[in-house]
Amino acid sequence: MISDYLKNSVTRVPDYPKAGIQFRDITSLVADGRAFAEAVTALAEPYLSQAVDKVVGIEARGFVFGAALARELGVGLALARKPGKLPRATCRETYTLEYGEDALHMHLDALEPESRVLLVDDLIATGGTALAALRLVRQLGASPIGAAFVIALPELGGLAALQRQRVATHHLME
Ligand code: PRP
Ligand code: ADE
Repeated sequence: MISDYLKNSVTRVPDYPKAGIQFRDITSLVADGRAFAEAVTALAEPYLSQAVDKVVGIEARGFVFGAALARELGVGLALARKPGKLPRATCRETYTLEYGEDALHMHLDALEPESRVLLVDDLIATGGTALAALRLVRQLGASPIGAAFVIALPELGGLAALQRQRVATHHLME
């Protein structure tokens, strides 16, 4: 159970970036040391008793929580980045968002084959982003053992889609 303090640290912004979207702004959460610390501790909790070899953080907001979680678990962080950012050979997956289209890349040597990988992002909505990251992890021959999010919007189907891919999910609030 997370605190109301943590829940209230996320700012809801109506009609951003377009009409009908209620944007969950986590900048207010990460700017607050107490809320950020609680979020990272709660994100890590299910994985303290599991072997995790690497955290994969999804650009950009997933980097913030991914880096903190990797440090908490004592493992490294691999970056899933938007196009045009990684300097060496990559694999690529495209996806659609609640409000647009994009692609993710990872360096071909970002993950050890068969390593146990935890995906991390701030939020899951349609799941397009997380599923693209999952496909990248599988392309690289690693084993996704879970996916963790600060916020889930289950009505948009992403959590269920990940679960259909046999990935165990963890989220802190809806
Ligand atoms: C947001 C969020 C997730 C994604 C979730 O990222 O951080 O990555 O949308 O949506 P989905 O489940 O429908 O795919 P965004 O692409 O806005 O990028 P940012 O992190 O760079 O702000
Ligand atoms: N990414 C996709 N949907 C979002 C939302 N409603 N708020 C913040 N980030 C998002």
